[in-house]
Amino acid sequence: MALVNMRDMLSHAHRHGYAVAAFDLVSLDFLEAIIKAAEASRAPVILSLAESHFEYFDFELAMAATEAAAKRTPVPVAIHLDHGASLDTAVEAIRLGCNGVMVDASTRPFEDNVERTRAVVDMAHACGVPVEGELGYVAGVEGEDAEKHPGELVYTSVEEAGVYVERTGVDFLAVSIGTVHGRMRGAPRLDMERLAQINSALQIPLVIHGGTGLSDAQFRDLISRGVSKINYYTALADAAAQRIRDNLDAGAISGGYTALLKGIQAPMQAEMERCLRLWGSAGRADELLAECELWQPVSHLIIYNVAEGADADAMIAEGWRVLSAIPGVRDVFTGEAVKTDAGYRYCWNVAFCHPAVIDSYREHPDHVKFADTHFRPVAADRISVDYRKLV
Ligand code: 13P
Repeated sequence: MALVNMRDMLSHAHRHGYAVAAFDLVSLDFLEAIIKAAEASRAPVILSLAESHFEYFDFELAMAATEAAAKRTPVPVAIHLDHGASLDTAVEAIRLGCNGVMVDASTRPFEDNVERTRAVVDMAHACGVPVEGELGYVAGVEGEDAEKHPGELVYTSVEEAGVYVERTGVDFLAVSIGTVHGRMRGAPRLDMERLAQINSALQIPLVIHGGTGLSDAQFRDLISRGVSKINYYTALADAAAQRIRDNLDAGAISGGYTALLKGIQAPMQAEMERCLRLWGSAGRADELLAECELWQPVSHLIIYNVAEGADADAMIAEGWRVLSAIPGVRDVFTGEAVKTDAGYRYCWNVAFCHPAVIDSYREHPDHVKFADTHFRPVAADRISVDYRKLV
């Protein structure tokens, strides 16, 4: 189990002058290639799922596979929601297993961006989950030609960045200093002086979106000025597409789906290993693991009996509905003892994503209301314990 706290992960990168790769994944092939590249390089990595890509895969199903991969690998990984569109998506992402979230309000006016991001930070921090905010605007669309989306790039202002971080409480800041999402012609011109000023003013991990197309020297300059997370997608998608074209040229046209996709992971993995070396994260897995909190869930267990004559079924159904929606709750198991001689007939087993949820759940107004009006009046006979996972 090497799912780790992303705040610790990026703080380590920031202190030691390297950047963690956040590769966006759109299929199992991407997921497997990322894990293989990270394991071969002994590198920490961020498994990133962008809401703009949700049309290509089912988020819930993709998260199940992503979480399984994160738990199985020995290298430290985090699972991140990239470019979330709303607070609701962030709540859902945490429920499904993301332990880092970004809700992108960078196209909004400053005050609106602050307000929306602050709401995400309040919710996510109550779940123990760190938040990435974006100030300034990185134009373009991942996986597409930047020329097709010539939206006006807005550079991050150094003065506004300080105010934004203080008022929102974000843990990491995505900055706009000249990169664009997607494929671009020619090398972008980056405002390194602005980046250096933002870094010395903020001293928190900075994030670069639109990694595709930057030169080796540009990556080194970015990292030496506080960039600790680099988002990267288009170059991987292009490497995969080229393999499909090569398969077609080699005669796969008469084959089926698997013939077309054969060997698709290898060129992605090679490109990722190049990035991991270049960005300085290769070989860092062990030292980072030694300094990171492992991402550990909590089981909030209540065993109880219901007073004679009370409508247990209605109370349980209402509890399941209300409690499942509280941020940081991943699952609500409502149970009845299999054997009739059990000392306690019923249970709730509420899965929290992180120990921080013990307090935020207890104090959440929906929990308080349900507990005071539905549960406690009929379940005086109860035992409640929070358990952390041992093995
Ligand atoms: P590229 O697709 O340009 O590599 O950018 C990826 C990205 O920034 C995802 O958030």
